[in-house]
Amino acid sequence: MQTDVIRPADFAAQAAQFILQHARTAIAERGLFRLALSGGNTPRAVHAQLARLGADLAWNRVQITFGDERCVPPEHTDSNFRMARETLLDVVPMPAGNVFRIRGEIDPATAAQEYEDKLAAVAARFGEPRYVHDLVLLGLGEDGHTASLFPGSPALDEAVRNVIPATGPKPPPQRITMTFPLLNAARHVAFLVTGADKHALVEEITSGSTAYPAGRVHAEAVTWIVG
Ligand code: 6PG
Repeated sequence: MQTDVIRPADFAAQAAQFILQHARTAIAERGLFRLALSGGNTPRAVHAQLARLGADLAWNRVQITFGDERCVPPEHTDSNFRMARETLLDVVPMPAGNVFRIRGEIDPATAAQEYEDKLAAVAARFGEPRYVHDLVLLGLGEDGHTASLFPGSPALDEAVRNVIPATGPKPPPQRITMTFPLLNAARHVAFLVTGADKHALVEEITSGSTAYPAGRVHAEAVTWIVG
Protein backbone atom coordinates (compact mmCIF):
# COMPACT_ATOMS: atom_id res chain seq x y z
CA MET A 1 0.00 0.00 0.00
CA GLN A 2 1.30 3.38 -1.07
CA THR A 3 0.37 6.20 1.36
CA ASP A 4 0.83 9.89 0.56
CA VAL A 5 -0.07 13.00 2.54
CA ILE A 6 -0.77 16.27 0.71
CA ARG A 7 -1.28 19.55 2.60
CA PRO A 8 -2.35 21.89 -0.23
CA ALA A 9 -2.59 25.67 0.08
CA ASP A 10 -6.05 25.59 -1.52
CA PHE A 11 -7.63 22.42 -0.11
CA ALA A 12 -10.87 22.34 -2.11
CA ALA A 13 -9.39 23.28 -5.48
CA GLN A 14 -6.47 20.88 -5.20
CA ALA A 15 -8.66 18.05 -3.95
CA ALA A 16 -10.90 18.67 -6.97
CA GLN A 17 -7.88 18.64 -9.31
CA PHE A 18 -6.75 15.36 -7.74
CA ILE A 19 -10.16 13.80 -8.40
CA LEU A 20 -10.26 15.13 -11.97
CA GLN A 21 -6.81 13.69 -12.72
CA HIS A 22 -8.06 10.27 -11.63
CA ALA A 23 -11.25 10.74 -13.63
CA ARG A 24 -9.47 11.59 -16.87
CA THR A 25 -7.04 8.66 -16.47
CA ALA A 26 -9.81 6.14 -15.73
CA ILE A 27 -11.97 7.34 -18.62
CA ALA A 28 -8.99 7.21 -21.00
CA GLU A 29 -7.97 3.72 -19.83
CA ARG A 30 -11.33 2.03 -19.20
CA GLY A 31 -14.00 4.33 -20.57
CA LEU A 32 -15.51 4.80 -17.11
CA PHE A 33 -14.60 6.52 -13.83
CA ARG A 34 -16.10 4.77 -10.82
CA LEU A 35 -16.11 7.25 -7.93
CA ALA A 36 -17.45 6.85 -4.37
CA LEU A 37 -18.46 10.13 -2.73
CA SER A 38 -18.00 10.72 1.00
CA GLY A 39 -20.52 12.22 3.37
CA GLY A 40 -20.55 14.91 6.02
CA ASN A 41 -19.69 18.56 5.33
CA THR A 42 -16.09 18.54 4.14
CA PRO A 43 -16.99 17.43 0.58
CA ARG A 44 -19.24 20.46 -0.03
CA ALA A 45 -16.40 22.83 -0.97
CA VAL A 46 -14.61 20.11 -2.95
CA HIS A 47 -17.77 19.38 -4.96
CA ALA A 48 -18.17 23.07 -5.79
CA GLN A 49 -14.60 23.18 -7.14
CA LEU A 50 -15.14 19.88 -8.95
CA ALA A 51 -18.15 21.33 -10.77
CA ARG A 52 -16.21 24.49 -11.61
CA LEU A 53 -12.92 22.89 -12.69
CA GLY A 54 -14.52 19.82 -14.24
CA ALA A 55 -17.05 21.56 -16.46
CA ASP A 56 -15.49 19.85 -19.50
CA LEU A 57 -15.30 16.35 -17.97
CA ALA A 58 -17.25 13.58 -19.71
CA TRP A 59 -19.67 13.23 -16.77
CA ASN A 60 -21.63 10.63 -18.75
CA ARG A 61 -18.55 8.43 -18.24
CA VAL A 62 -18.67 8.79 -14.45
CA GLN A 63 -20.43 6.30 -12.17
CA ILE A 64 -21.20 7.61 -8.68
CA THR A 65 -21.58 5.52 -5.54
CA PHE A 66 -21.78 6.58 -1.88
CA GLY A 67 -19.40 5.41 0.85
CA ASP A 68 -22.27 5.63 3.29
CA GLU A 69 -25.72 7.06 3.76
CA ARG A 70 -27.82 8.04 6.71
CA CYS A 71 -31.14 6.19 7.05
CA VAL A 72 -33.26 9.21 6.13
CA PRO A 73 -35.19 10.16 2.97
CA PRO A 74 -33.17 11.70 0.11
CA GLU A 75 -34.62 15.15 0.70
CA HIS A 76 -33.72 15.14 4.42
CA THR A 77 -31.08 17.69 5.48
CA ASP A 78 -29.01 14.80 6.94
CA SER A 79 -28.94 12.91 3.62
CA ASN A 80 -25.49 12.53 2.06
CA PHE A 81 -27.24 12.11 -1.28
CA ARG A 82 -28.99 15.46 -0.83
CA MET A 83 -25.65 17.14 -0.03
CA ALA A 84 -24.06 15.60 -3.14
CA ARG A 85 -27.07 16.43 -5.33
CA GLU A 86 -27.09 20.09 -4.26
CA THR A 87 -23.32 20.64 -4.51
CA LEU A 88 -22.40 18.45 -7.50
CA LEU A 89 -24.88 16.06 -9.10
CA ASP A 90 -27.40 18.74 -10.06
CA VAL A 91 -24.61 21.12 -11.07
CA VAL A 92 -22.84 18.97 -13.68
CA PRO A 93 -24.42 17.09 -16.65
CA MET A 94 -24.59 13.80 -14.77
CA PRO A 95 -27.06 11.24 -16.16
CA ALA A 96 -29.38 10.16 -13.34
CA GLY A 97 -28.73 6.49 -14.22
CA ASN A 98 -25.04 6.95 -13.40
CA VAL A 99 -25.80 7.80 -9.77
CA PHE A 100 -26.22 4.78 -7.47
CA ARG A 101 -28.20 6.18 -4.54
CA ILE A 102 -28.43 4.17 -1.33
CA ARG A 103 -32.14 4.19 -0.43
CA GLY A 104 -31.89 5.47 3.13
CA GLU A 105 -35.66 5.80 3.32
CA ILE A 106 -36.38 2.06 3.32
CA ASP A 107 -35.55 -0.81 5.68
CA PRO A 108 -31.74 -0.68 6.16
CA ALA A 109 -31.12 -4.39 5.53
CA THR A 110 -33.19 -4.23 2.33
CA ALA A 111 -31.43 -1.06 1.17
CA ALA A 112 -28.01 -2.60 1.86
CA GLN A 113 -28.86 -5.80 -0.03
CA GLU A 114 -30.28 -3.79 -2.94
CA TYR A 115 -27.03 -1.81 -3.13
CA GLU A 116 -24.96 -4.96 -2.84
CA ASP A 117 -26.83 -6.41 -5.82
CA LYS A 118 -26.41 -3.21 -7.85
CA LEU A 119 -22.64 -3.21 -7.32
CA ALA A 120 -22.42 -6.95 -8.02
CA ALA A 121 -24.11 -6.50 -11.39
CA VAL A 122 -21.49 -3.96 -12.47
CA ALA A 123 -18.64 -6.05 -11.03
CA ALA A 124 -19.86 -9.04 -13.06
CA ARG A 125 -19.78 -6.93 -16.22
CA PHE A 126 -16.12 -6.12 -15.49
CA GLY A 127 -15.29 -9.70 -14.46
CA GLU A 128 -14.42 -8.51 -10.94
CA PRO A 129 -14.99 -10.63 -7.79
CA ARG A 130 -16.12 -7.43 -6.13
CA TYR A 131 -16.83 -3.92 -7.46
CA VAL A 132 -13.58 -1.99 -8.01
CA HIS A 133 -13.76 1.77 -7.53
CA ASP A 134 -11.22 3.87 -9.38
CA LEU A 135 -11.36 6.31 -6.48
CA VAL A 136 -13.09 6.24 -3.11
CA LEU A 137 -13.39 9.55 -1.24
CA LEU A 138 -13.55 9.21 2.55
CA GLY A 139 -13.89 11.59 5.46
CA LEU A 140 -12.44 11.27 8.95
CA GLY A 141 -14.31 11.72 12.20
CA GLU A 142 -12.64 12.98 15.37
CA ASP A 143 -13.00 9.47 16.80
CA GLY A 144 -11.22 8.00 13.78
CA HIS A 145 -14.34 6.74 12.04
CA THR A 146 -14.63 6.78 8.29
CA ALA A 147 -17.73 6.28 6.16
CA SER A 148 -20.04 4.86 8.85
CA LEU A 149 -17.41 2.51 10.26
CA PHE A 150 -17.26 3.63 13.88
CA PRO A 151 -14.85 2.48 16.63
CA GLY A 152 -16.07 -0.68 18.37
CA SER A 153 -18.76 -1.38 15.76
CA PRO A 154 -19.37 -4.98 14.59
CA ALA A 155 -19.36 -3.48 11.08
CA LEU A 156 -15.56 -3.32 11.37
CA ASP A 157 -15.42 -7.13 11.34
CA GLU A 158 -17.44 -7.63 8.14
CA ALA A 159 -15.23 -9.68 5.82
CA VAL A 160 -17.62 -10.70 3.06
CA ARG A 161 -20.38 -8.19 2.33
CA ASN A 162 -19.63 -4.87 0.60
CA VAL A 163 -22.48 -2.83 2.04
CA ILE A 164 -24.17 -3.28 5.42
CA PRO A 165 -26.39 -1.49 7.93
CA ALA A 166 -24.45 0.13 10.78
CA THR A 167 -25.07 2.36 13.77
CA GLY A 168 -22.86 5.00 15.31
CA PRO A 169 -22.68 7.84 17.83
CA LYS A 170 -22.72 10.53 15.14
CA PRO A 171 -26.36 11.49 14.54
CA PRO A 172 -28.36 10.19 12.85
CA PRO A 173 -27.29 6.86 14.35
CA GLN A 174 -28.80 4.44 11.80
CA ARG A 175 -26.74 4.23 8.63
CA ILE A 176 -25.69 2.07 5.73
CA THR A 177 -21.99 1.82 4.99
CA MET A 178 -19.46 0.37 2.62
CA THR A 179 -17.24 -2.16 4.40
CA PHE A 180 -13.46 -2.63 4.49
CA PRO A 181 -13.52 -5.39 1.83
CA LEU A 182 -15.12 -2.98 -0.66
CA LEU A 183 -13.08 0.06 0.36
CA ASN A 184 -9.86 -1.94 0.22
CA ALA A 185 -10.68 -3.28 -3.26
CA ALA A 186 -10.42 0.27 -4.67
CA ARG A 187 -7.59 1.30 -6.93
CA HIS A 188 -7.18 4.46 -4.90
CA VAL A 189 -8.64 5.96 -1.72
CA ALA A 190 -8.44 9.67 -0.92
CA PHE A 191 -9.20 10.92 2.58
CA LEU A 192 -10.45 14.51 2.48
CA VAL A 193 -9.84 16.03 5.91
CA THR A 194 -10.08 19.63 7.11
CA GLY A 195 -9.71 21.09 10.57
CA ALA A 196 -6.72 21.51 12.86
CA ASP A 197 -8.55 19.37 15.42
CA LYS A 198 -7.98 16.36 13.15
CA HIS A 199 -4.32 16.95 12.30
CA ALA A 200 -2.89 14.93 15.21
CA LEU A 201 -5.21 12.03 14.35
CA VAL A 202 -4.11 12.15 10.70
CA GLU A 203 -0.48 12.08 11.85
CA GLU A 204 -1.14 9.06 14.08
CA ILE A 205 -2.94 7.13 11.36
CA THR A 206 -0.50 7.95 8.56
CA SER A 207 2.32 6.88 10.91
CA GLY A 208 0.81 3.40 10.89
CA SER A 209 -1.71 3.25 13.73
CA THR A 210 -4.52 0.77 13.07
CA ALA A 211 -6.25 1.67 16.34
CA TYR A 212 -8.92 3.62 14.44
CA PRO A 213 -11.27 2.47 11.68
CA ALA A 214 -9.69 4.93 9.19
CA GLY A 215 -6.34 3.27 9.89
CA ARG A 216 -7.70 -0.02 8.57
CA VAL A 217 -8.25 1.26 5.02
CA HIS A 218 -5.52 -0.55 3.08
CA ALA A 219 -6.36 0.02 -0.57
CA GLU A 220 -3.68 -0.24 -3.28
CA ALA A 221 -2.95 3.48 -2.84
CA VAL A 222 -4.15 5.91 -0.18
CA THR A 223 -3.74 9.68 -0.37
CA TRP A 224 -4.53 11.99 2.52
CA ILE A 225 -5.49 15.49 1.39
CA VAL A 226 -5.40 17.62 4.52
CA GLY A 227 -6.60 21.19 4.91
C1 6PG B 1 -21.04 10.73 7.40
C2 6PG B 1 -19.67 10.59 6.81
C3 6PG B 1 -18.61 10.61 7.86
C4 6PG B 1 -17.89 11.91 7.64
C5 6PG B 1 -16.96 12.25 8.79
C6 6PG B 1 -16.39 13.65 8.60
O1 6PG B 1 -22.00 10.26 6.79
O2 6PG B 1 -21.13 11.38 8.45
O3 6PG B 1 -19.56 9.57 5.98
O4 6PG B 1 -17.69 9.54 7.78
O5 6PG B 1 -17.13 11.82 6.43
O6 6PG B 1 -17.70 12.19 9.99
O7 6PG B 1 -17.47 14.55 8.55
P1 6PG B 1 -17.22 16.12 8.29
O8 6PG B 1 -16.70 16.22 6.88
O9 6PG B 1 -18.57 16.75 8.42
O10 6PG B 1 -16.21 16.57 9.31
